[in-house]
Amino acid sequence: MESLIIINGPNLNLTGERETKFYGKVSFEDFLEELRTIFPKIKIDYFQSNVEGEIINRMHEAMLEHNAIILNAAAYTHTSVAIGDAVKAIDIPVIEVHISNVFQREDFRHVSYIAPHCVGSIAGFGFDSYRMAIEHLIRKK
Ligand code: DQA
Repeated sequence: MESLIIINGPNLNLTGERETKFYGKVSFEDFLEELRTIFPKIKIDYFQSNVEGEIINRMHEAMLEHNAIILNAAAYTHTSVAIGDAVKAIDIPVIEVHISNVFQREDFRHVSYIAPHCVGSIAGFGFDSYRMAIEHLIRKK
């Protein structure tokens, strides 16, 4: 595992400010710095978009640049056939992550169009969900 990209979907640019009960008070950028310190040997790229097609384009590009994707598609998780198809189409492993425990929340959040095509899903551990995904990728290599 030399290089991976974390892709975050809509509204996750507001982490630290938005619904802090679910998503905490730390910005994702600050957490990213911490992650890069924990895993100094891995190139950790980051992309966030509120636009479905941009997320898909970045996933396609990632195949050429990275060994794996850690994907938090946010609300698109529960709606996007297109992002689900993108996960299916690409040939690098994708791990689905969520900051909150989606299974403790509204029923519509219990559905994922992405999960069936992912290596696995990690939800409910706050930002630590991303660290756990990286730990798996390192052990698996
Ligand atoms: C989320 C959970 C989604 O249901 C929600 O729409 C988000 C964030 C999470 O990380 O907990 O925006 O993906």
